[in-house]
Amino acid sequence: MSMKITDQLSRPLKDLRISIMDQCNFRCTYCMPKEVFGKDYVFMKEEELLSFSEIVRTAEQFARLGVNKLRITGGEPLLRKNASLLIRELHDIPGIDDIALTTNGVLLPKFAMDLKKAGLKRVNVSLDALDTAVFQEMSGRKTKAEIVLRGIDAALEAGLGVKVNMVVKRGLNEQEVIPMARYCKERGVMLRFIEFMDVGQTNGWDYSKVVSKKELYDAVSEIGSLQPIDPYYFGEVASRYRYEDSDVQVGFISSVTETFCGTCTRARLSADGKIFTCLFSEEGIDLKQDLREGKTDEFLFTKIKEVWEKRSDRYSELRTAESSKNRKKIEMSYIGG
Ligand code: GTP
Ligand code: 5AD
Ligand code: SF4
Ligand code: SF4
Repeated sequence: MSMKITDQLSRPLKDLRISIMDQCNFRCTYCMPKEVFGKDYVFMKEEELLSFSEIVRTAEQFARLGVNKLRITGGEPLLRKNASLLIRELHDIPGIDDIALTTNGVLLPKFAMDLKKAGLKRVNVSLDALDTAVFQEMSGRKTKAEIVLRGIDAALEAGLGVKVNMVVKRGLNEQEVIPMARYCKERGVMLRFIEFMDVGQTNGWDYSKVVSKKELYDAVSEIGSLQPIDPYYFGEVASRYRYEDSDVQVGFISSVTETFCGTCTRARLSADGKIFTCLFSEEGIDLKQDLREGKTDEFLFTKIKEVWEKRSDRYSELRTAESSKNRKKIEMSYIGG
């Protein structure tokens, strides 16, 4: 039996986002710009990463505290060796009824089937453009968008649920909004547009580069009128709609113009074992040392419980151009999105 705990703003703990790898094979301008994440950038050493058994032990304590949904992220999580073995172990934790993974899709043709067999339910695949030049500019690499499309196909063939995430950045990929919406509608896959966020310190964010949910909604309405749908679960980050003339859905993640901190039920675990209670946290609380010093499950359980009960984060609600500049934020590739 799991407990129900709430934070200072009465928000229950329901989801844990687990980053298993800080590295990525892409260099998206809004996440790991190549000017910053270049050859000399120092990533975590292998021994700094939590081992699978350390991740599982931590996730077990989170599940005892009410977490029923796990999301595996990175960097790029499929760069971590044997990721599907970890999924299998997480799948066996009592109380966990949803395990999903967020990926750039490149390695899905290789791993989709294993992931599905291990108990993974669904993947969210990031894809910001179909056009080769725009895609390459966004992702900072020479890979073609077709490679990601093959990844999406492989996931569908393996029987995984698939959603596509598209970050829209003004001046870079707005012209791809309609082609992406058309493609996903025809393919029967849900596309979610994400407002460009001020995560981390390095992506050169400012308000002028954010394409708002309203603008995106108006643009997409051109290819079919939209009907709102109720959230799948309490605290879902996307607002979803159905095209009137089909069963296909489209979503908007509007963390800048329509914030959703009031229902934020997510904790994050970085690949080196720190808990973060907000995507925009300035620092994390270390669990790795406790795990490696042989602290008991009860100790870990109580520590996590206290962290959540003290939590009062609501960064997006309080964001101003000024606070965004002055805050020392953790990079998204480190904290896992
Ligand atoms: P499902 O609804 O379970 O499919 O997943 P998700 O949308 O929560 O996860 P995903 O990894 O696909 O994230 C989509 C976008 O939402 C990313 O840009 C995330 O950074 C953003 N996001 C997820 N959780 C939060 C959050 O708590 N706060 C903010 N500001 N953004 C979030
Ligand atoms: N703003 C919005 N979304 C972002 N993502 C990464 N960086 C940003 C950002 N600065 C998205 C990725 C992926 C998800 C985990 O987060 O594209 O789909
Ligand atoms: Fe890699 Fe995803 Fe960040 Fe792009 S957004 S650099 S694919 S982790
Ligand atoms: Fe949750 Fe922080 Fe995102 Fe608000 S900004 S929804 S508190 S993670």
